[in-house]
Amino acid sequence: MKNIVILISGTGSNMAAIAQAAQREHWAERYGAQVAAVLSNKADAPGLALARELGIATDSLDHKAFASREAFDAALRQRIDTYDQPGAPVLVVLAGFMRILSAGFVNHYAGRLVNIHPSLLPAFAGLNTHQRAIDAGCKVAGATVHWVTPELDHGPILAQAVVPVLPGDTAQTLAARVLAQEHLMYPQVVRQIIQK
Ligand code: GAR
Repeated sequence: MKNIVILISGTGSNMAAIAQAAQREHWAERYGAQVAAVLSNKADAPGLALARELGIATDSLDHKAFASREAFDAALRQRIDTYDQPGAPVLVVLAGFMRILSAGFVNHYAGRLVNIHPSLLPAFAGLNTHQRAIDAGCKVAGATVHWVTPELDHGPILAQAVVPVLPGDTAQTLAARVLAQEHLMYPQVVRQIIQK
């Protein structure tokens, strides 16, 4: 079985979209793939309860309990690698995981670590993407799914979804429009990866 491990920090709506697609589309029977676990750096992330409701194993690892980024990443890696199998490398899916990962972590999962970012990369890497798109007068905005490389929000692009920026948009209204597209795009990209 190919194991997908999803990392979250908050709501987990993208995680749920992927897990629900996996169940609805019978990924286990069709592709030998399952969402094996959802891990969070925050024990109170609402997405963890959501994952449990979907019957998925959850765990949390508090980054504040570690002396350095590298120490946290090493512990996270150890946790993830319990789902790594010979001949079926774990796929790590970042879904609103709000931690910068060390180069050592990223390189360990090269080619099996994906992220979703709420902008049309390479525009607006980093935080506050929707407000920055509005402030820049952009007519379109969107989200990007990309392979993760050590440089933040810069890996090869797998897919993008585009939405209009409408007159009167706030960061919140634009974020909601983008998020609806994220929920369609991210499960499709993960399915394409595990089908290979
Ligand atoms: C999503 O919009 C995702 O693109 C974004 O956080 C949100 C998580 O929502 N990710 C980042 O900003 C990564 N830098 P969710 O927890 O409901 O999936």
